[in-house]
Amino acid sequence: MKILVTGGAGFIGSNFVHYMLEAHPEDRIVNLDLLTYAGNLESLADVEDNPNYSFVKGDICDRSFIMDLFEKERFDIVVNFAAESHVDRCIVDPGIFVRTNVMGTQVLLDAAKEYGVGRYHQVSTDEVYGDLPLERKDLFFTESTPLHTSSPYSASKAGADLLVMAYHRTFGLPVTISRCSNNYGPYQFPEKLIPLMLTRALADEKLPVYGKGENVRDWLHVKDHCVAIDLILCKGRDGEVYNIGGHNERTNLEVVRTILSALDKPESLISFVTDRKGHDLRYAIDPAKIEAELGWKPQYTFDTGIRQTIAWYLENRPWWEHILNGEYSSYFESMYGERMAEK
Ligand code: NAD
Ligand code: TYD
Repeated sequence: MKILVTGGAGFIGSNFVHYMLEAHPEDRIVNLDLLTYAGNLESLADVEDNPNYSFVKGDICDRSFIMDLFEKERFDIVVNFAAESHVDRCIVDPGIFVRTNVMGTQVLLDAAKEYGVGRYHQVSTDEVYGDLPLERKDLFFTESTPLHTSSPYSASKAGADLLVMAYHRTFGLPVTISRCSNNYGPYQFPEKLIPLMLTRALADEKLPVYGKGENVRDWLHVKDHCVAIDLILCKGRDGEVYNIGGHNERTNLEVVRTILSALDKPESLISFVTDRKGHDLRYAIDPAKIEAELGWKPQYTFDTGIRQTIAWYLENRPWWEHILNGEYSSYFESMYGERMAEK
């Protein structure tokens, strides 16, 4: 099989490339990535000489480039991870989210249709379902929960999902969609909660917790997400959506306290800052469908996964120090400067 992985230099995409090269040595992986601020080839340094792997720099929105690539490579499978993925950034600049997440997806769908790709898989998110109330622990997102988005990020991901389903219904394109909960693990860019708190705590810097830290996320180790996507590619049914999550709900404050305690750092580092605009309260996935239909079960609990992740960041300092020393330093100041000063 020849598999196009878009966004393979990002957090989940790079973990997926590693996972697939090991799990399916008979397959060939082409990684297409624009290398935005979130794309990092250092995450793939150990596989760059693997004969089953190649990298192409390019933009999923660039129609003629994408059509040429599909003409040349004749992919069997496309897995689309490429996206703008950070909610805080979509509040500052929604336009790039629509461009990459909606229009880029449409270009890939056209190419998949034109070149008869055997399966187009869209990596989506549980955020398309909106949020759940904090006080209703009995409620979970299922695949039939209506789309009800809160942020330009989630709206753009929902728009892409609707296009994917439209290409299935209208043109018969063989598609699947997965909607996963929050991921964590190796190679996550330190703008997201867990690596941001980890890297700042290690430097004894203040940890900016939005609002009261009561919002709940359902955390899944990235490896378990990769296994789930692989199962969907192998056994998933065309035209179906699969939710992915492992019932690991934690408040943000619980997550931050877990990290502090593992690093033996004081809770006085926590700084409650102005809340995120439109901040979703709670995400929680019901994974019954993927468990029953495809036999998926997560390998990590939050406790084992967070320990593995903390160990990885401790053992791979150059990977993230390189990022922190680049343009990231101005990102933190522009995103958090005022927020931190307000408190
Ligand atoms: P990421 O931001 O770490 O990586 C995104 C990658 O896409 C980067 O390598 C970037 O260079 C690339 N990219 C961006 N624009 C591109 C373009 N126009 N053309 C080609 N490449 C482009 O994101 P991530 O956290 O790895 O998320 C990957 C996917 O998984 C996204 O679609 C996201 O919506 C989805 N998802 C993420 C999570 C999570 O917790 N991180 C959870 C569920 C779903
Ligand atoms: P994030 O990692 O950005 O993922 P998402 O918004 O897609 O769920 O944030 C996870 C949670 O952590 C979310 O409720 C916002 C909160 N958060 C903070 O409190 N402080 C921070 O600096 C960041 C980045 C996130």
